[in-house]
Amino acid sequence: MQEKAVSIRSLYEAFASGEGFPANREVIVEGWVKTNRNSGKVGFIELHDGTCFKNLQLVYGADMKGFDAISHYSLASAIEAKGVLTLTPGMKQPFELQVEKIRLLGGVADDYPLQKKRASFEFLRDMAYLRPRTNTFDAVFRVRSVLAMAIHTYFQEHGFVYVHTPEITANDAEGAGQVFTVTTDAKDPINDFYGRRASLTVSGQLHVEAFAMAFKDVYTFGPTFRAEKSNTPRHASEFWMIEPELAFADLDDDMDCIEDSIKFCIRYVMEKCPDEMDFFEKWIAPGLKAKLNDVLNKPFRKMEYTEGIRLLQEALKSGHKFDNDKIEWGMDLQSEHERYLTEEVVKGPMFLVDYPKEIKAFYMRENDDGKTVAACDLLVPGEGEIVGGSQREERYEVLKEKMEKIGNAKGLEWYLNLRKYGGCVHSGFGIGFDRLLMYITGVANIRDTEPYPRTSNNLKY
Ligand code: 4AD
Ligand code: MG
Repeated sequence: MQEKAVSIRSLYEAFASGEGFPANREVIVEGWVKTNRNSGKVGFIELHDGTCFKNLQLVYGADMKGFDAISHYSLASAIEAKGVLTLTPGMKQPFELQVEKIRLLGGVADDYPLQKKRASFEFLRDMAYLRPRTNTFDAVFRVRSVLAMAIHTYFQEHGFVYVHTPEITANDAEGAGQVFTVTTDAKDPINDFYGRRASLTVSGQLHVEAFAMAFKDVYTFGPTFRAEKSNTPRHASEFWMIEPELAFADLDDDMDCIEDSIKFCIRYVMEKCPDEMDFFEKWIAPGLKAKLNDVLNKPFRKMEYTEGIRLLQEALKSGHKFDNDKIEWGMDLQSEHERYLTEEVVKGPMFLVDYPKEIKAFYMRENDDGKTVAACDLLVPGEGEIVGGSQREERYEVLKEKMEKIGNAKGLEWYLNLRKYGGCVHSGFGIGFDRLLMYITGVANIRDTEPYPRTSNNLKY
């Protein structure tokens, strides 16, 4: 067989568009066996080639040379088949391949760990190198790819410039101390390679702010590292973050951009991945599509932190149980508190704004009340925070004083200088890419949205 194989994706696309579908013509396909069954007279192989969620049915007759061998091609075998594409109106699949010739390209050893029965998420996590072959992860990782494209499409179409901020940095951008040190000399990391302490980035924000002062609207999109030992379904030590930064924009502009971009991404994925979304709806999160459609049709609600605290205290009084039940103004909200507000009160995505300055990062702009900062977190049902944003402190003296107080002014003079050299009101935010993917697919654990998840005590692959 010399001719080139066609992709199953191209067949379904041609069929759907009504143009160029090679009905009754000979084609070659290659892929992996999903199922193989026969009645003794005729055999059926469900072939998956990875180019789309759908499979192609191959039909082979008992009169074929090697029928017996073919009927033993087992799950996951790599094969090539040549045959005639036939329309099958009224059947489950719109067309199938009447096989003329078939060839085993790669057989499967008996110890193949993924047999037909449904395996648990936990089991599959331990098989990170094989799980992309399962239906669930076929859908998750294709949507992950499409979602990345949605992000780029949205920001590029809106004139944002994509900036590659560094992965190795001398700054702790969030000032939270959750950094991984980078060194070639564990005994003396400070006098090592760079002559100063280096770490993996926790956020590209500070670097990208500098670019916003040149290009107006910019974004970074890349891996981010945090040494937080939070063993939750929402925390990973390596995750991807999108960080847009907008010059001449205040907190309201920031929230408009968050809402618009998140809605764009949801719409984009639902449109480009209908089969995958149907699969999630059926097997992972019933009600998912209605939930997402509802999100698209309503404005995100805004609520002040102070109001949030009041509602949480009220809930407590009327008998709602929280694990952390000391609820007072100034506290950092736990996920259970965020979820109460977004799930029980608002029943949809919401912005919680104007947080106490003590619990938020140093770069956020102080409000006139002297107690809060212009911050906005986007909270969603099922997860809590998926986006964190703020208006930035643009006043040189105010920011300098704050940074001197917390002790990170030294080494970040360049960041302060941005306020001296044509600084302006500006805002930005960080979308947790993996958390957004969880939200859109209904997958409940971040470990099942990343190809090779990194969490503490977990580095098998
Ligand atoms: O709220 P965070 O910490 O904000 C920042 O890093 C800012 N510099 C963003 C900015 O304004 N440019 O993180 C932003 C988002 C969170 O809302 C969350 O979705 C995600 O990043 N995130 C994590 N995702 C997975 N695992 C973790 N350990 C995460 N920490 C934050
Ligand atoms: Mg945050």
